[in-house]
Amino acid sequence: MEYREIGTSGIKASSIALGTWAVGGGPWWGDSDDEESVRAIRAAVDAGITMIDTAPAYGFGHSEEVVGKALRGRRDRVVLSTKCGLWWNNDRGSFKFEQLGRRVHTCLRPETLAVEIETSLKRLDTDYIDLYMTHWQAVEPDKTPIEDTMTALLKMKDAGKIRCIGVSNADVSHMKEYLASGRIDSNQLKYSMLDRDIETEKVPFCIKNRISIQAYSPLEQGLLTGRIGMDYRLSDTEYRNLIPWFKPENRKKVLDMLDGWKPLAEKYGCSIAQLVIAWTAGRPGITFVLCGARKAAHVMDNVKAAGITLETGDTARMTMDVESLQDAV
Ligand SMILES: NC(=O)c1ccc[n+]([C@@H]2O[C@H](COP(=O)([O-])OP(=O)(O)OC[C@H]3O[C@@H](n4cnc5c(N)ncnc54)[C@H](OP(=O)(O)O)[C@@H]3O)[C@@H](O)[C@H]2O)c1
Repeated sequence: MEYREIGTSGIKASSIALGTWAVGGGPWWGDSDDEESVRAIRAAVDAGITMIDTAPAYGFGHSEEVVGKALRGRRDRVVLSTKCGLWWNNDRGSFKFEQLGRRVHTCLRPETLAVEIETSLKRLDTDYIDLYMTHWQAVEPDKTPIEDTMTALLKMKDAGKIRCIGVSNADVSHMKEYLASGRIDSNQLKYSMLDRDIETEKVPFCIKNRISIQAYSPLEQGLLTGRIGMDYRLSDTEYRNLIPWFKPENRKKVLDMLDGWKPLAEKYGCSIAQLVIAWTAGRPGITFVLCGARKAAHVMDNVKAAGITLETGDTARMTMDVESLQDAV
């Protein structure tokens, strides 16, 4: 496993990270088996994954609680990353979505952040968070100035509650504003071989300013493992409905492309998921590949990608296939 620094924080974490959104369960992912999730998280730590990512919004606190339980006795072996800024205690902030009778708002006010950090520490059963980030950026009508949010985060850092500050889903203008009032070390952004929009502006900006990127949904929610076939039926509520690649006509093209990589997988003695993760980890500016999993077998598959270095010709071939696919949809 390779261990990379989070920005300039001095904190190093595994280049393959574990995401626990699905661990929270709920309509977007379906029910989770908590005992299985605990086994998956512990398997990750035992296999050398040190970065574990969660958020209060994942199952309305449930993911954080399960992560806290899984890490009991293991806390000092991990770099824990969680988030703030999705708020459902009352109507403060700007409305974002409603689920299970809760109205969730984007809210980055200092007074709600002060509540959120204490709640996360409690759920995670710890007294510090290694990387604390703003989950979604504030929008009108309740748009807290970034300077005010940053002041609140710096106060937490001074108090020893968080070790470094990050952002998520932040564009270049947000990052510039954060940097004007303090230091951010990481941006958690959507990135997969099928969704490379961030390469144009965000990646160059992050490289220049030594801000790590945690690439989220790198497996396009499982599609890029090749294990979700044409026969997979999406339930009405699952999040994958929002990903155009899951539409049957697009899914078929992705699966055909992955099928064409079987000889490559044989050459490296690896799975398709490992090929995809290795490709992603090798992209410029991508510091951490944040793979979601709630099954130990999936974690163990993904972690092995760390041992694979793709030859330049193979990387180029995969990139070419992906670009031809994008031209075809
Ligand atoms: N900041 C944000 O706004 C944001 C948004 C989305 C995600 N994230 C973070 O990024 C993480 C990863 O993204 P994601 O969970 O959306 O998607 P992902 O990592 O692209 O895919 C996760 C899905 O792939 C399956 N999977 C993983 N490894 C597999 C393997 N080797 N073989 C077969 N299936 C496998 C998982 O199954 P099982 O669950 O059954 O193991 C799960 O269904 C999240 O968990 C979260 O921490 C952040």
